Amino acid sequence: MIIDLHTLNPAEKQYYLQHAIAPRPICFASTVDKAGNVNLSPFSFFNLFSSNPPIVVFSPARRVRDNTTKHTLENVLEVPEVVINIVTYDMVQQTSLASCEFPKGINEFIKAGFTPESSTVIAPPMVKESKIKMECKVVEVKPLGNEGGAGNLVICEVLVMHIDDSLLDANNKMDQRKINHVARLGGDWYCVVNETNLFQVEKPNTKLGIGIDALPTAIRNSKILSGNQLGQLANVHEMPVIEPSFDDAHLKQIIQYYSINPDEMEKELHTYASVLLNNGQVQQAWQVLLSAI
Ligand SMILES: Cc1cc2nc3c(=O)[nH]c(=O)nc-3n(C[C@H](O)[C@H](O)[C@H](O)COP(=O)(O)O)c2cc1C
Repeated sequence: MIIDLHTLNPAEKQYYLQHAIAPRPICFASTVDKAGNVNLSPFSFFNLFSSNPPIVVFSPARRVRDNTTKHTLENVLEVPEVVINIVTYDMVQQTSLASCEFPKGINEFIKAGFTPESSTVIAPPMVKESKIKMECKVVEVKPLGNEGGAGNLVICEVLVMHIDDSLLDANNKMDQRKINHVARLGGDWYCVVNETNLFQVEKPNTKLGIGIDALPTAIRNSKILSGNQLGQLANVHEMPVIEPSFDDAHLKQIIQYYSINPDEMEKELHTYASVLLNNGQVQQAWQVLLSAI
């Protein structure tokens, strides 16, 4: 299916874009108006755009239904400050409740049952139940259009971060496994980030990976190794060579058993390398693959 966005109505555009651009982290924004009335609303059009200066952006859009603006937007135009509270799994139902279109002046801390906690450098209160909160100054508000669905970029500089001690490891570093972020996808879908779905990809450092194009043809065209596995192999800094000291019983077995059938041997070696790569054993996988070349 190919979609020309010009042929869609605003709700359809929102539907396809929100399903495609997912998961989106959730900014639970606490703001105040000039009179000091507090507002609390979630926004998943949200992300980090710079670390120095520390800039995050979220977007309260004009309502598709009647082209009105959201209280959060009106508040930051009056008082350019916001607390961005990060939403975790234990808060998701109450966070969704806070997104109801309550009339202006209604405090969603009360409606959704969250506890306000004084910020240290700005007026809007923090959500006590959130384990990561950022006190921010709004540096710019950029409208992206005048029609229903048009976003308004609220560009914020993070002044102070509050991180719950329960998220820290012994070295005061944040432990990703402990956070349990939730994120929004299309329609009513959300996801939670926890140990069952977290995984690590080794960051390529300043040394360059050799690249897929540098892999020996038999490896590059393997019918067994996946794109992810070729990516792991091609991320080494120089083409590995056979290590005479590499001693692997299963490799020996394969070589012995399939020596009269090179095609079958290659298949077996690639299958074994695939298991090693799934285990993160890239150097070992290379040694296995090199014995087939
Ligand atoms: C998880 C979640 C994410 C949302 N993200 C956005 C968003 O990025 N932009 C937006 O305009 N509305 C978003 N909404 C809807 C607003 O939260 C909703 O319109 C809210 O009533 C606005 O409140 P306000 O008028 O008090 O600012 C989201 C709702 C939920 C539950």
